[in-house]
Amino acid sequence: MTPSDHSDPTDDATPADQPPAVPDHGFATRAIHAGQDPEPVTGAVTVPIFQTSTFAQPRVGEHTGYEYARTGNPTRTALETCLAALEGAERAVAFASGLAAEDAVFRLLEPGDHVLMADDVYGGTWRQIAQVHTRFGIEVSAVDLADLDAVRAALRPTTRLLWAETPSNPLLKILDLAALAELAHDHGAQLVADNTFATPALQQPLALGADVVVHSTTKYLGGHSDVVGGAVCTDEATAQRLAFLQNAVGAVPGPFDAWLTLRGVKTLEVRMARHSENAARVAAFLADHPAVTAVAYPGRTDHPGHELAARQMSAFGGMVSFRVAGGMAAAKRVAESTQLFFLAESLGGVESLIEHPGIMTHASVAGTALEVPADLLRLSVGIESVTDLLADLEAALAAGAAQ
Ligand SMILES: Cc1ncc(COP(=O)(O)O)c(C=O)c1O
Repeated sequence: MTPSDHSDPTDDATPADQPPAVPDHGFATRAIHAGQDPEPVTGAVTVPIFQTSTFAQPRVGEHTGYEYARTGNPTRTALETCLAALEGAERAVAFASGLAAEDAVFRLLEPGDHVLMADDVYGGTWRQIAQVHTRFGIEVSAVDLADLDAVRAALRPTTRLLWAETPSNPLLKILDLAALAELAHDHGAQLVADNTFATPALQQPLALGADVVVHSTTKYLGGHSDVVGGAVCTDEATAQRLAFLQNAVGAVPGPFDAWLTLRGVKTLEVRMARHSENAARVAAFLADHPAVTAVAYPGRTDHPGHELAARQMSAFGGMVSFRVAGGMAAAKRVAESTQLFFLAESLGGVESLIEHPGIMTHASVAGTALEVPADLLRLSVGIESVTDLLADLEAALAAGAAQ
């Protein structure tokens, strides 16, 4: 390994060559083995938490592949190797949070570049680009990316990125990733897909033509609501630019966070199957309930994106949104009445969560085109016994209707 001063921005920011992924193996095998060979000194079968800020160097100007833990850490490398193998990417870069990962992608742009963003992205994504990156000359507009004619009309000569989230948050809209990739490429732009809701277990955006996948690994990839993290999965050249930016800016995940995420990823496939099963049952229950006026779940045949989702995804995921009769007040009562569904932001953990997007996760888009309905509730359906979840919702809906 050539020397690379971690403080020298011209040097390579690759901490160590990532070992080759194992693309020939099945998904669940890659989740457990990619980047996770037994540790060579002791044979530990679990990647150790390399809790160190620096690495001893054998000679001046030579290092083992790791020199300073902002630039790289072996636990982080293992996570990055695994995530790249799962998304079918040449390389992944793990970040301190999903928003840190997105920030790095936006920093690849130049002043004057335009980003065309889906009109119902996660509120924090919109807040970041609209309130932070526009101050440095990045331009952004929002459009319904499900309407390809509207997308064509909204493209500008300066459009460099299309930013898609599918299923979207919180309305679970389904976007045609292959069609958007083609549109972007015809225009000389790139497609970024936020794959947080679907995860690579259910949807493979790079295989559909996307150029970059971003993740909040805080959600399903971590899977246990115990760690905040993010990742970008992409080609080697883009990943090198991201790794340079990350080393220069500093939003790195700590080794314990990388380890927790890696542990979560091992069970991703089985968890996503169970999340999807439980969510389908919850969506069917809600659709039949008199206190519910609308249900959004891409697995239901009445969902406008159902056929596309069936083509693009291998199952429909664990997120369900629904609208409650009686408006915002009734919706708040329901959200405050569940026992097993904890009232909390975030999603993707083994435990079920309920939230009011308008007041909680999406408060930052109030008054904009991205505002969500006041009677909307979002569920992250966990992997508990589904009969218990249905009983919990039944009782909460009764409490919501009771005033
Ligand atoms: C779809 C989506 N993308 C990105 C983010 C941001 O990730 P983080 O909270 O890890 O910064 C979130 C967070 O809720 C999200 O739901």
